[in-house]
Amino acid sequence: MWGGRAGALLRVWGLWPAGVLGRRPLSCNAASLAGSNPSGCWNCGSPGGPVRGDGFFCPQCRALQPPDLTRDYFSLMDCNRSFRVDTAKLQQRYQQLQRLVHPDFFSQRSQTEKDFSEKHSTLVNDAYKTLLAPLSRGLYLLKLRGVEIPEGTDYEMDRQFLMEIMEMNEKLAEAQSEAAMKEIESVVRAKQKELTDNVSRAFERDDFEKAKEILTKMRYFSNVEEKIKLKKIPV
Ligand SMILES: *[C@@H]1O[C@H](CO)[C@@H](O)[C@H](O)[C@H]1NC(C)=O
Ligand SMILES: *[C@@H]1O[C@H](CO)[C@@H](O)[C@H](O)[C@H]1NC(C)=O
Ligand SMILES: [Zn+2]
Repeated sequence: MWGGRAGALLRVWGLWPAGVLGRRPLSCNAASLAGSNPSGCWNCGSPGGPVRGDGFFCPQCRALQPPDLTRDYFSLMDCNRSFRVDTAKLQQRYQQLQRLVHPDFFSQRSQTEKDFSEKHSTLVNDAYKTLLAPLSRGLYLLKLRGVEIPEGTDYEMDRQFLMEIMEMNEKLAEAQSEAAMKEIESVVRAKQKELTDNVSRAFERDDFEKAKEILTKMRYFSNVEEKIKLKKIPV
């Protein structure tokens, strides 16, 4: 079967999408890790207030509270849970949150608050990066829907698509000039743009199977993009 053979070849060449995003833990909503203390502020014990929403600080003593890890990235970043996000708004929200929680603002505070601020800041960074890039945003949306794409799967990839990817990788391996690289780069970029439009429509129709298929393709192209970046860096 082609899928198996092509898969093996891609693996041997190291062309398999290693999941540029796979390394990043996407799950941030494990209830067991929930940091917010429902019994009140960790510092003064004041009940209520800081647990939900944007109550990062205790209304009584103003101490920074631990991050609410049950909150998903869309809620944290004040975005609708949808593939279409307003990236300008996303960026504004990112800056607004970092102005509240960034460790630079806690250098004179207690160690507990320093630690919480590190955690908040990392979470906000992860949420921002995840929602900013179409591929990671799409994968995250699917994950919230309970749909995951296992690493290294040749999930229903058709022969034609795998051929296209292999040819592109061959061209990239052979590319000697800046111009040759640029050409491949622009082809990949155009593909990603088209796939982003397509996956956006799939999400609008709530067609998660289609979205999964398109995102898998985007992951292959994203892997090519990573290779282009690496090749550009002179060793
Ligand atoms: C979220 O969706 C609602 C209803 O569809 C819309 O009115 C609102 O403007 C959206 N908010 C953002 C931030 O896109
Ligand atoms: C995007 O969708 C259109 C319409 O379904 C399709 O013809 C086209 O091939 C898709 N683009 C890619 C890159 O798969
Ligand atoms: Zn307090």
